[in-house]
Amino acid sequence: MAQLSVEEKASLVAGATFWKTAAAPGIAPITVADGPHGVRRTPDSGQDFGLGESLPATCFPPATGLASSWNRDLVERVGQALGDESRAQGVNVLLGPGINIKRSPLCGRNFEYFSEDPIISGELGASYVRGLQSRGVGASLKHFAANNQETNRMTVSAEVDERTLRELYLPAFENVVKREQPWTVMCSYNRINGVYAAENEWLLTRVLREEWGFTGLVVSDWGAVDDRVAALRAGLDLEMPGPVADSHAALVAAARSNARDEKHLDTSVERVRRLVTRSTLEKGPDFDVDAHHALARSAATESMVLLKNDGVLPLEAGKPIAVIGQFARSPRFQGAGSSQVNPTRVEPALDALMLTTPVEFASGYSHAGPDEALHAEAVQLAEQAETVLLFVGLPEGDESEGYDRTDLDLPAHQVALIQAVTAVNPRVVVVLTNGGVVSLEPWHDSAAAILETWLLGQAGGAAIADVVFGSVNPSGRLSESIPLRLQDNPSYLNFPGDLTTVRYGEGVFVGYRYYETATLPVRYPFGHGLSYTSFEYSDLEVAKDGTLATVTVTNTGAVGGKEVVQLYVSPPASDVRRPVRELRGFAKVWLEPGASTRVELALTSRAYSYWDVASSTWVTAGGDYVLQIARSAHEVVLEATVTLNDSRPAEKLTLESPVTAWLQHPVTGPIFRRAAGGDVVEGGANVLDMVGSMSMRRLLRFPDVPVSAAQLKALLVAANNPVVRGIARVVGRKRG
Ligand code: GLC
Repeated sequence: MAQLSVEEKASLVAGATFWKTAAAPGIAPITVADGPHGVRRTPDSGQDFGLGESLPATCFPPATGLASSWNRDLVERVGQALGDESRAQGVNVLLGPGINIKRSPLCGRNFEYFSEDPIISGELGASYVRGLQSRGVGASLKHFAANNQETNRMTVSAEVDERTLRELYLPAFENVVKREQPWTVMCSYNRINGVYAAENEWLLTRVLREEWGFTGLVVSDWGAVDDRVAALRAGLDLEMPGPVADSHAALVAAARSNARDEKHLDTSVERVRRLVTRSTLEKGPDFDVDAHHALARSAATESMVLLKNDGVLPLEAGKPIAVIGQFARSPRFQGAGSSQVNPTRVEPALDALMLTTPVEFASGYSHAGPDEALHAEAVQLAEQAETVLLFVGLPEGDESEGYDRTDLDLPAHQVALIQAVTAVNPRVVVVLTNGGVVSLEPWHDSAAAILETWLLGQAGGAAIADVVFGSVNPSGRLSESIPLRLQDNPSYLNFPGDLTTVRYGEGVFVGYRYYETATLPVRYPFGHGLSYTSFEYSDLEVAKDGTLATVTVTNTGAVGGKEVVQLYVSPPASDVRRPVRELRGFAKVWLEPGASTRVELALTSRAYSYWDVASSTWVTAGGDYVLQIARSAHEVVLEATVTLNDSRPAEKLTLESPVTAWLQHPVTGPIFRRAAGGDVVEGGANVLDMVGSMSMRRLLRFPDVPVSAAQLKALLVAANNPVVRGIARVVGRKRG
């Protein structure tokens, strides 16, 4: 550090090119590249904003698919493979995983994110980081934070209350940082409560470093820095891309003019140096293209979700089928924007299906729009076929990084085709290709089966054949709810906000947290997914302190398969509104027909806590918590209750406390209720209930209140004495 001039230091905290960091004496440049679901290594010049042709790499299922696997080991193996490919291409940091919460199904980038739920996002995000970094390649956990829409993403302010941030939008980042220490965290473009993420000291230093113990480097999203000196002070270490002349000048001036900024600069330079020293500078060996393609195929088979099946699946190999839909021949297997990979190969479903059974094909539609001839040809084929695989989905341009959707609909001509084909054939399997949730209405009931394949990466076509013919038993589960209507989604009235601001008005009630609490029906709930076999649960046991739940799951069907055991916690009523249940643990197990296994799910106190804004801590309200083993957020199969003590220190009663606190207090409550007697106003409210939220001090101002402040102060001494309070509580419980 001592050998570096201020100018050299200022150069080190910005990129030297679109994808490389700067060099200085003793500090070599390193290379970064997008992810997350494949290595997108483009030329360093950064022409056309770094979106030029990239080197061939394996395109794994994007996060929306991987998340549906609910399989930590699988995601870790994909991370390892991405690490090998990064090393082979001289990439030191891969820019992923993207773990932002799917607040609205309309977000154009949902294909690149995991879930509406922070446990799934955090657990699978951690698996990805663990796998990637095990190969000596750094991750860049993104986009920190509250980047849940594409509309105005560079400037919009996400107005999110602190409890919602803590319970919904930060926990996945917290989980990954605390468990896996990603080498870098990427800050998001947007503002959070008015302050750019890049300049948000509360976010980047108070929370990320001081509370969570992050020891890595914070990199900006590309072009996310507005005021470079403010960003330096907030804890943003590396501005990308670079170099940025006016940032350099501002940093030099700041460091020269005050010691505090010079210290901030030295701190960021040290983090850059540490990132470089932990990187392996020379390229790794070439990666095994076939092995990685096979892994992509295996991952894809677990990434699709069998939503509905009247028994038409699995199909019988050798029996002729009709395949309809352009996507079967020209698959869409990834999203658009910075994550777009140049695949080593692509396997269309049509080719894979033809290897297994006689197929007649009709494209059925053109992405350019309605085509009567294609439509008629497809319907005619369907009429003659015994079984139809109908491939539909969102065309390339319907969703992407950079913009959001405005509806959940499939193209109208595709909906018309589904209706026409199912009208002439009762055995239609609808195969969906989409990054964000699409509406299944109004054709849902007329489909014999529905396979939600999301976006499956380059081997998705072969994976679809594996599943529809039963070589692989589907085991995906929804990591995002599928609503009946867009208007039912809790963010509907607050998405994407207005020009400058988006209010997270639904608070913690995102996705199933809202639907289940509001008992609003959905088409398919979070966690839903069918198998070709069946699973039963029994013998749920929970530790008295709620730290462990153990349950037996049995494969009661005729074929082997994987089950996702889902554990939710349903809290007692408390001072804050809480979702009726929240996912708190999950495990995926393979079971042969007839086999059983005991699954253990460990829980921490966080499984029961909510964020108490007043005390800025996690608190557990006292009471009964119901642990629920469920097949989805909607279908609970086993329950067990644990009773937990209140983690909050008993509040001292004072004259400022509201009357209700005096009424509920074990010492003063009985006295006041007797004193109030039966004074009832019409409508049955007791007089004290009427003034319940008033402070006791103000109540004493009313005329003829038969007690003085002095008397109450004497009573307070007893009331706040822990021993007296404890005795009163026991007496109160005895009296019921
Ligand atoms: C993009 C994306 C980010 C990506 C970066 C580099 O704008 O938001 O995810 O890693 O810029 O391409």
